[in-house]
Amino acid sequence: MKDVFKSPQESQVETRYLVLPEHANHYGTVFGGVIMSWIDIAAAMTAERHCQHEAVTVSIDGISFISPINIGDHVVVKAGINYVGNTSMEIGVVVIKENPRTGEQIKATSAYLTFVGLNRKKKPVQIPKIKPETEDEIRRFENAKIRVKSRRELFKNLK
Ligand SMILES: CC(C)(COP(=O)(O)OP(=O)(O)OC[C@H]1O[C@@H](n2cnc3c(N)ncnc32)[C@H](O)[C@@H]1OP(=O)(O)O)[C@@H](O)C(=O)NCCC(=O)NCCS
Repeated sequence: MKDVFKSPQESQVETRYLVLPEHANHYGTVFGGVIMSWIDIAAAMTAERHCQHEAVTVSIDGISFISPINIGDHVVVKAGINYVGNTSMEIGVVVIKENPRTGEQIKATSAYLTFVGLNRKKKPVQIPKIKPETEDEIRRFENAKIRVKSRRELFKNLK
């Protein structure tokens, strides 16, 4: 089958949330599980937009909680495709907290997720490749290639 190439820009997703008390833990900051759910949703939309198939999360790794998010903060979740294998794709997500009074933005969380595209029979399906063009897209692609290789080696070496 001839390879189809798509730009990462075609599938980018940016979502905003207002942090309410129901999102917070007993310390008054956003519960990590809520942030992970926002990350998974944004990444899933990117994966579906890219492959135009059902796309399921197969792994989440490299999740870093860098800065706490407070009630009343605005949260921006940005997801973009970094790399495509055969049936799998790596999506990178960054979560930014924004102070609505000052507009100051601080990176709060980041993560890498692997999704697999499925056909109607729920079997992995070949998905379009990506064509990284900008400096950032090329950097993300090259870094993701290293992560994919190291994940494969890890699985191979684990008993
Ligand atoms: C996704 C699923 C169908 C893949 O099945 P599988 O038998 O592992 O399929 P394969 O071995 O052919 O792997 C498919 C691809 O996923 C990759 N993959 C599999 N497990 C992986 C993991 N833990 N981390 C990263 N990549 C993984 C493989 O390397 C392969 O990539 P490639 O085709 O680009 O080379 C199966 O794992 C599944 O149904 N998982 C549950 C998904 C789910 O319920 N998610 C939560 C709700 S969305």
